[in-house]
Amino acid sequence: MCGIVGYLGEKKATPILIEGLSKLEYRGYDSSGIAVVENGEVKIEKCRGRLSNLKDKVLDKDFTSSIGIGHTRWATHGEPSDVNSHPHSNQDGTIAVVHNGIIENYIVLREWLISEGYKFVSETDTEVIPHLVDYYFDGNLEDAVIKATKRMEGSYALGVISKNDPDKIVAVRKDSPLVIGVGENESFIASDIPAVLNSTRDVYLLEDKEFVVMTKSGITIYDENKNKVDKQIFHVTWDIDAAEKGGYEHFMLKEIYEQPKAIKDTLTSRIVKGEKIKIDGIHLTKEQIENFDRIYIIACGTAYHSGVVGKYVIERLAKIPVEIDVASEFRYRNPLITEKTLMICISQSGETADTLAALRLAKEKGARIIAITNVVGSSISREADDVFYTWAGPEIAVASTKAYITMLIALYIIALYMAEVKNTVRATEIEKIKDGLLNLSEKTAEILNDIEPIKAFVDEIYKHKDVYYLGRGLDYAVAMEGSLKLKEISYIHSEAYAGGELKHGTIALIEEGTSVIALATQSDLYDKMVSNIREVKTRGAKVLGIAMEGQTEIEKTVDATIYIPKVMSILAPVLSVIPLQILAYYTAVKKGCDVDKPRNLAKSVTVE
Ligand code: G6P
Repeated sequence: MCGIVGYLGEKKATPILIEGLSKLEYRGYDSSGIAVVENGEVKIEKCRGRLSNLKDKVLDKDFTSSIGIGHTRWATHGEPSDVNSHPHSNQDGTIAVVHNGIIENYIVLREWLISEGYKFVSETDTEVIPHLVDYYFDGNLEDAVIKATKRMEGSYALGVISKNDPDKIVAVRKDSPLVIGVGENESFIASDIPAVLNSTRDVYLLEDKEFVVMTKSGITIYDENKNKVDKQIFHVTWDIDAAEKGGYEHFMLKEIYEQPKAIKDTLTSRIVKGEKIKIDGIHLTKEQIENFDRIYIIACGTAYHSGVVGKYVIERLAKIPVEIDVASEFRYRNPLITEKTLMICISQSGETADTLAALRLAKEKGARIIAITNVVGSSISREADDVFYTWAGPEIAVASTKAYITMLIALYIIALYMAEVKNTVRATEIEKIKDGLLNLSEKTAEILNDIEPIKAFVDEIYKHKDVYYLGRGLDYAVAMEGSLKLKEISYIHSEAYAGGELKHGTIALIEEGTSVIALATQSDLYDKMVSNIREVKTRGAKVLGIAMEGQTEIEKTVDATIYIPKVMSILAPVLSVIPLQILAYYTAVKKGCDVDKPRNLAKSVTVE
């Protein structure tokens, strides 16, 4: 995710930049850096680790400059290290850039710039930007930045300074947030409002492709054709605490709303219409993929639930048998592992002790390991043979939402990739699924734009002591995750059952008024699921159905229905989990629970 800041005014820039970055650490905190124009030279200080490391480093320097930019990093391309930290600069160090976002075409740009004689020092996508600005620089910084951005695809919020056009900060955004703080004789740029609130409550909220030029004489905003744009000042009335959560009451809700973007980011450059799938961190040959005779998916908690979806999807598309297990069980059951085994370890944090131990065990026995993780440079990513990074950005709430969704996306991509290589699914079918994946972000936003019909059920759910979740096939996998969300944050007991298994015991618990949430999004299992719903209905259950638009038959059997937008059955989990997250969230809020920090739980469990 990353956070950027910038300051131009009459005070010393360094302490203001550090203070601003401290308000953005929630956006990433694996490294940080600043750049100032000091005595006519661009000076950069940056390092790996928490912001306190940078603070120690820059305090010694005592820069007097009143112009600077800063960055706090959440690594996506290239592990956290001093050299990969921002700001990045051109070869002769005359230009410095901070960037939040992902430059999707950076490989092509990098190759072209190398052919033009530019030398690269980092593994980041960002480093192409200062070189591009350098390429187009002709004495005016904003003109060079405008030209450079015309070559860039992807998302970016940028702050740029140069010693050859000093006394100026140029900033721009596209698909990454950026605000401009308007103070008295001073101006700021920041990824988010909290970073400027100590100095001003007046901000400009930038639209995509709006360019900002900040100088001592003021702020000018241009469109991409360099026409001036008139903007209204937005006066911030929230307090800092609320602002850190982007105005949301809790990080969990903020993260639920970040899901459309997280999906888009994770698909970025991996799934491109009409092109073969490319997965940056996975280096398997066709021969190796064809040689696998079994896959283990190993994970804990929510990551495990994403793996249950993964099992269905990989078996269906790549036609390799998949076993899924929780890491703490797997490691003590003498699993059968050979050199033909592929293990997929899924872990948001990349640090979960049980998952790491399972990985080590499988590696020792000769398995090939793919890690799916959200944290670049985490232990699991370092010890695996191949890594698929989900680009969800830092997840703060203990209950996982956006990380879960991006794990699903990762598993779809891996399954499709193997199917493409092994030729196990027709090319037209693969293209159809790719199209479906590319539309998911929009459909997710559609659900989030109208949550009132979902919230309407909170009053019903919250008064129960037990809630049962039912589903078949992929719906069963999602039911597990929905049930976990409810129990971990609202403390209501809940269980998930496979629709067909209910009659073998659990149905004994169903009585008048029992609350049941039944998922019926899978067209091939729809009729069977409806009969399972009838089984609980006739025993008195109150049933909320989750179905896909157009599948209205369910209404005859349930008490109420929530519809998700139409999508291929195989992709339904990405959408059907969202109403369940929202139900869990608002139920917990209504019960007055500590949503972001539920009792007895930790975000990352690094002990056995
Ligand atoms: C903890 C968290 C869960 C999480 C699980 C696995 O128990 O409370 O939300 O799903 O760890 O975490 P990981 O980082 O490995 O995905």
